[in-house]
Order: sequence, then C-alpha cells, then structure tokens
Amino acid sequence: MKRVRIALLGCGTVGSGLVELLARERRRILARHDVHLVIERILVRDVAKARRYVDRRLLTTSAVEAIDRECDVVVELVGGVHAAGAYVRRAIAQRRDVVTANKALLAACGAELFADARAAGVSIGFDASVCGGVPLINVLQRGLAGDSVESVRGIVNGTCNFILTRMEDGMTFVDALRIAQERGFAEAEPEFDVDGWDAAQKMRIVAAVAFDRPVVEEHVSGIRNVTPEWIGRARLGGNVIRLVASAKLTPFGVAIRVEPRELDANDPLACVREENNAVVIRSRAVGELTLTGKGAGAMPTAAAVLADVIAIGTATAAVRAQEAIA
Ligand code: NAP
Ligand code: HSE
Repeated sequence: MKRVRIALLGCGTVGSGLVELLARERRRILARHDVHLVIERILVRDVAKARRYVDRRLLTTSAVEAIDRECDVVVELVGGVHAAGAYVRRAIAQRRDVVTANKALLAACGAELFADARAAGVSIGFDASVCGGVPLINVLQRGLAGDSVESVRGIVNGTCNFILTRMEDGMTFVDALRIAQERGFAEAEPEFDVDGWDAAQKMRIVAAVAFDRPVVEEHVSGIRNVTPEWIGRARLGGNVIRLVASAKLTPFGVAIRVEPRELDANDPLACVREENNAVVIRSRAVGELTLTGKGAGAMPTAAAVLADVIAIGTATAAVRAQEAIA
C-alpha cells in the first residue's frame, strides 16, 4: 500500500469538492488502486471561513508551510496566474508532483512549467483544466496516442453554455450569470468566461496536447453580443446559439477560434445544455469521437483532479516497486 500525502492549495469550489469526494471515495481508491490518499495541509486566504467536510486543523495561510512540509503531491486549486504560478514553481523546485485545474496558468506559462517539471523529474497532471469532469485531456494523451488528431471542436465553457440555455428559457443574461456564479461554475473574474478567454485558454491547452504544431491564429469573441432577439430568431428556424471553440490543424500551424455560432438541430453540440460541455474530436483513423458531460462545478472537476492524483500515486508506487526489485 502506497501512502500519498497531498498539500491542497485552495479550498473554494473545486478544493472543497475534492475534500468531500476524497472522504467519500478513499476506501474504494485504497481497495482498487492500493493507494492511501491523505490531505496533510490546506492553503486558504481566510482560515475563519466556514467550510463543510474540512478538518480545520489542516488549514494554513502559509504557502511555504503547505508546500515545504513533507508531501508527495501539491494540488493547486487557487486559480489565477501570479500566486498560483509562484506556488507551482516552488512545488516543482521541492520535487513535488503537481496536479492543477488552472487553465489560465497553463495557457500563460505551461511550456515553462512543464520544462521545469521535466528537469526536476516530476509530473504535472492537468486533466481538470479543460472541460471539468469530461476526460478530454486523457483521451487526447492516451486514448488517441496512436492516431493523428485533425481538429477539436466543442462547447468548453460551462458558464457561457449555462447562460445561453437559460436565456433560451427567457432568463436575462445578468440573472443567468449570477446563478452560474452562485453554483461555482464561473471564474473569480467572470469576464474570462463571458468574453471567451476561458475557452481560448482551454483550446491552447488542447492544441498543445493534440497537435505538435504552434498556434498561428487565434480569434476570440464571447457571448456579450448574443441578444434574446438573436436567440429567438434562431429558434424560429429550429436552431440554437452556442459558444463554439475550435482548434484545427492548417498547413501553417494550429488555428483557434472561439465565437457564438448558430447551430442546427443535427449538430452534436446543439443539444448540450446548462453547464455541460461537449467536444467532437476528428482524427484520421478513428474519425469522429464525441465526449460530453459536466464541464464545471465542484464534484465533476474534483473527480478529474482526483483521477490525476491517483495516476501519479500509482505511477510513483510502480517506480518504487521496480527500484526495490532492482
Ligand atoms: P475559488 O472557489 O475561487 O477558490 C479559490 C481558493 O483558493 C479559495 O479557497 C481561496 O481561499 C484560495 N486562494 C485564492 N487566492 C489565494 C492566494 N493568493 N493564496 C492562498 N489561497 C488563495 O476557485 P475554484 O472555482 O475552486 O477554481 C479553482 C481553480 O480551478 C481555478 O483555476 C479554476 O479556473 C479551475 N476550475 C474551476 C472549475 C469550477 O467549476 N469552479 C472547473 C474547472 C477548473 P479562501 O477560501 O480563503 O478565499
Ligand atoms: N469557469 C469555467 C467554466 C469553469 O464555466 O467552464 C470550468 O473550467
């Protein structure tokens, strides 16, 4: 049995979901994967805040204490680029494996962080950074490792999809955004969602995983110009409006587009509602593959984070077993 000690950085929507999910799944994970997962420290800004399922003795406001204390995996769920980047760099320097759901950080400085991690001999799990509970990164990295991906197209922002489908039901943009914020789907700065930047960051990560080519073109527009009138006109023709993100291989490199589009009812993305995401991957041998599921929210995202922690835990256990045999 391998004991994996976790330093959890951030205990907001996703972090508290992880604490709850781990409490629920710990025994099954031990029985199935032979890995005993233990949270050693939890970094927050405010230790006085009420937090369900959290052992308050684990809370700290000191990142140094959380990261430098003996642990195996640092799980970064703080969000943003500046502080989170400093924490991840420190974790790598301390030779900790890292799991993150932070697409803003990876889109801004992923190449540098992955190079640092390689040099330090540690890994970075990031499946939760794109499409929450939908295992898109896993499918691109492992399931399609034997095939050439040509394009990825989908709904990758839960907040925008929630707003657009609620607007179809007559709700205002402002009310729908407020509910998405209350349910924990939206970013701390929701402009990243509604202006398309969160989706663009995710597509940059997808492009880096799916194609071994640079991004040469990026067009990003969000959903602020989607009016109830446009939604109503589309509906008369049997169509819906969705924020569609795509990454496509061109002769020059990868082209990324994020924009609201009118989709007809036969499009596999048209029936995707609320905070759900859906992605259509086109590859040469497999053809078209569609993944769909919850793209945001505490538990779906925590499940993706936990899967990465288990993968790291079982991989390091296997390496140690080989070393013991050798
Ligand atoms: P959140 O609810 O805002 O939680 C952030 C947590 O980090 C809070 O516990 C906060 O402490 C702590 N924190 C923030 N700044 C800090 C700092 N400088 N130092 C120490 N602690 C700090 O965020 P979230 O929604 O869980 O998102 C976390 C990450 O997951 C983000 O990168 C986000 O993009 C990504 N993500 C979110 C979702 C989702 O559905 N929410 C889905 C996929 C990916 P306090 O609690 O004391 O304020
Ligand atoms: N704000 C993001 C969304 C969270 O709404 O999709 C999941 O990455």
